[in-house]
Amino acid sequence: MASVVIVGTQWGDEGKGKIVDLLTQDADVIVRFQGGNNAGHTIMFDGKKFILHLIPSGIFHENKKCLIGNGVVIDPSVLLEEIDNLEKNGIPVKPGRLLISERAHLIMPYHKAIDHGREAKRGKTKIGTTGRGIGPCYEDKIARRGIKVGDLLDEALFREKLSEILEEKNFYLEKYLSCEPLSFDEIFDAYLRMGERLAPYVTNVSVELEIARGQGAKILFEGAQGTQLDIDHGTYPFVTSSNTVAGGACHGAGVGPTTIDFVMGICKAYTTRVGGGPFPTELSDEIGLHMREKGAEFGSTTGRPRRCGWLDGVVLKEAVRLNGLSGLAITKLDVLSGLNPLKVCVAYELDGKRLEVIPGNIKEFSSLKPIYEELPGWQEDISQVKDIGELPENCKNYLRFIEDFAGVPIDIVSLGPVRDQTIVLRNPFKGS
Ligand code: GDP
Ligand code: IMO
Ligand code: MG
Repeated sequence: MASVVIVGTQWGDEGKGKIVDLLTQDADVIVRFQGGNNAGHTIMFDGKKFILHLIPSGIFHENKKCLIGNGVVIDPSVLLEEIDNLEKNGIPVKPGRLLISERAHLIMPYHKAIDHGREAKRGKTKIGTTGRGIGPCYEDKIARRGIKVGDLLDEALFREKLSEILEEKNFYLEKYLSCEPLSFDEIFDAYLRMGERLAPYVTNVSVELEIARGQGAKILFEGAQGTQLDIDHGTYPFVTSSNTVAGGACHGAGVGPTTIDFVMGICKAYTTRVGGGPFPTELSDEIGLHMREKGAEFGSTTGRPRRCGWLDGVVLKEAVRLNGLSGLAITKLDVLSGLNPLKVCVAYELDGKRLEVIPGNIKEFSSLKPIYEELPGWQEDISQVKDIGELPENCKNYLRFIEDFAGVPIDIVSLGPVRDQTIVLRNPFKGS
């Protein structure tokens, strides 16, 4: 397979970073296509822990190209900090190794101020955003008043666009959100300086991908967030502001659908969610606490404790349909050791009726009850198992149940945060 898309099947933090890092060994080019620094992808490398927010998780492998596509929203200060931090740790991030789309939109200081101001104003009904300005930036993109990476490289154009938009943003910040207005000069100077540093990285990512494909390169598309956070298909309004489903790889990187060969869904063996919004299988008891503690479930971006619960099979089936999944990677199976019995939600009940799909109405989704299937658990520590046959029988049963329920093969089983704590049954780049 030449082009593989990786997506989260739940509410994010499924372990996409770890799997992308693993599969990068067999890829040539790694591309982020949506989201921004709301993402936090953790990679354990050489005994060190790295959390990447914008740079693709393939950066730790030499001789691979990492691309940031047009569909990503970029906070240039975060990107430059990430580049500096990697270089400090001996990971070179030279132009040519990292390429950034000229068409990607920039997160501006007013986007972050608006994100914070709005959440504060919403009070109890807040979304629980990461506060990184993601939603306000995508809003401006759709409203055709955004500022793109390429605009930074044209001083006159940048000045014109910023002065036009800042007047409106300051009016909104002061009069509606009761926040401080922002200074044109400060933003203009700081962004121009950052633009100068970023200039050597800026290119047309769609063209780069076409060239790479022509040379027979293997391309890995790294999704951020998860299917239930998709702006169209997720649990709206408790979602992010981009299309997180696999189709987003096409418009967010500038490739056509016929170029994608394989879509791998990353699914945690249980469920987590950060921020607000309904979560039918959430556990606020000692089982949820076991998952949070053993799974170290604290947000990689904001440090917030993640809400934890049983695996939701309905959510998984939605992910199969919405992404056209070819295969699954089940992560964090090791965290379930010691829990007995295990439960998987197989349907919901709403007003006495059984539902097999997620209702589009958020009030209905908030009031349904999960219908569970119980499976026997296992006690053994499985974190060092290297062969699927050596897993405890009940653990194999749990995997078989997921596979049958989803109707999609499990290709990868992850048993710990480190690269070698992984069982690969089928490598999507090799077909075996
Ligand atoms: P992402 O946003 O999907 O890349 O996931 P995060 O990095 O935000 O969260 C996943 C967390 O689980 C990270 O701390 C990973 O190091 C860790 N992790 C990934 N796979 C496994 C696994 O199989 N077992 C355990 N115990 N931890 C894992
Ligand atoms: P990765 O790529 C988990 C959640 C936020 C909030 C909602 C909207 O690491 O899986 P936003 O700042 O995007 O406007 O917030 O989406 N969220 C994530 N949750 N993992 C992520 O990314 C997330 N990115 C955003 O918590 O509920
Ligand atoms: Mg994460």
